Amino acid sequence: MGRPPGLQPNEVRVGIVGLGRLGMRHAENLAFRVSGARLDAACALEPDRVETVQREWGVPRGYGRFEDMLNDRALDAIFIASSSGEHCRQIGEALDAGFHVFSEKPLGISLEECRAAEAAVARHLDRVFMLGFMRRYDASYRRAKDLIEAGRIGTPILFRGYSVDPESAIEGAIRFAPSSGGQFIDMSVHDIDLARWMLGGEATTIFAAGGCYAHPEFAASGDGDNLAALVRFDTGAMAFFLAGRTAAHGYAVETEIIGTKGTLRIASVPQKDHLEILDSHGVVRECSQSFLERFESAYLAEAQEFVSCIRQGRKPLVTVQDGTRATEVAFAATRSFREDELVRLS
Ligand SMILES: NC(=O)c1ccc[n+]([C@@H]2O[C@H](COP(=O)([O-])OP(=O)(O)OC[C@H]3O[C@@H](n4cnc5c(N)ncnc54)[C@H](O)[C@@H]3O)[C@@H](O)[C@H]2O)c1
Repeated sequence: MGRPPGLQPNEVRVGIVGLGRLGMRHAENLAFRVSGARLDAACALEPDRVETVQREWGVPRGYGRFEDMLNDRALDAIFIASSSGEHCRQIGEALDAGFHVFSEKPLGISLEECRAAEAAVARHLDRVFMLGFMRRYDASYRRAKDLIEAGRIGTPILFRGYSVDPESAIEGAIRFAPSSGGQFIDMSVHDIDLARWMLGGEATTIFAAGGCYAHPEFAASGDGDNLAALVRFDTGAMAFFLAGRTAAHGYAVETEIIGTKGTLRIASVPQKDHLEILDSHGVVRECSQSFLERFESAYLAEAQEFVSCIRQGRKPLVTVQDGTRATEVAFAATRSFREDELVRLS
């Protein structure tokens, strides 16, 4: 793949930090598919990944230390796809260094660092900050939101969100467990954000349950392989979240919003495409196997929105406060699960 030569007018020069499972996809999108963007630098702890991106995609500058990339004055924006525990520190440092910032979810893995990130965003209101709640940029979720706003299902009374990783990815999930922050912050944080967005309110009361039904390894991190939470919202609506790691069929992200006059369902069968295979197994509809497959276009759309906001002087839909609030709810759910008690949020 070739990159267009020279800097185009009003082009946003981006440096990405993190070249892991998701960072590589973001990097490729920024290098080749996001209009108005140039991927001019990449930073990761793995020198071979930085070299690969530089050699194969023609990214001019590579860094092993984030601090060094922040000294690259030929960049306009920093795109953070590093490990969750790095996000808030890197957000603050990048904003203070004068860059526009995109950060992957979750905003942070403690409320203190989320609040520090909020303060950094408040210090630099002339910069664009965007958080990667990419489901809001998925066409089906956007349409569901539009239909709710148009009154199509009446008053929304229940949001149900399942986010379950495939059992085939269990080894990585177990390795990741000590640094993930737990299933609610790692998996349900997307559903929590969607529930707030679709229901138009805030969570007030939470009870969570769950356990290690197939993989005892998660217990060492105070986690389970499948957890669920029932939540009351200040609108009076209910929400139910399921987060897990043992879906036999694939990457199971399924959503339902029930209203007084109708119900919306998104991917109630999480199939990868419209193909049906009729053979000795019956009628088979294959499922998506990873977030990269299911949300391919949402990752591109959110990166495009970040770059377009910078070019057009707009602010994105998802704010740093959305990140803090979703983190707060996820932690309340985690506490409820660990302590077996009802948690009230103020
Ligand atoms: N939005 C989504 O659907 C979604 C899906 C998967 C992952 N994520 C989030 O994206 C982030 C990355 O996930 P992943 O699965 O790609 O992780 P990963 O472990 O595969 O990769 C992490 C990358 O960050 C780099 N890194 C970590 N600390 C660094 C530092 N101090 N300086 C420079 N580089 C550093 C590592 O070198 C590595 O390249 C996580 O926060 C995760 O929660 C979001």
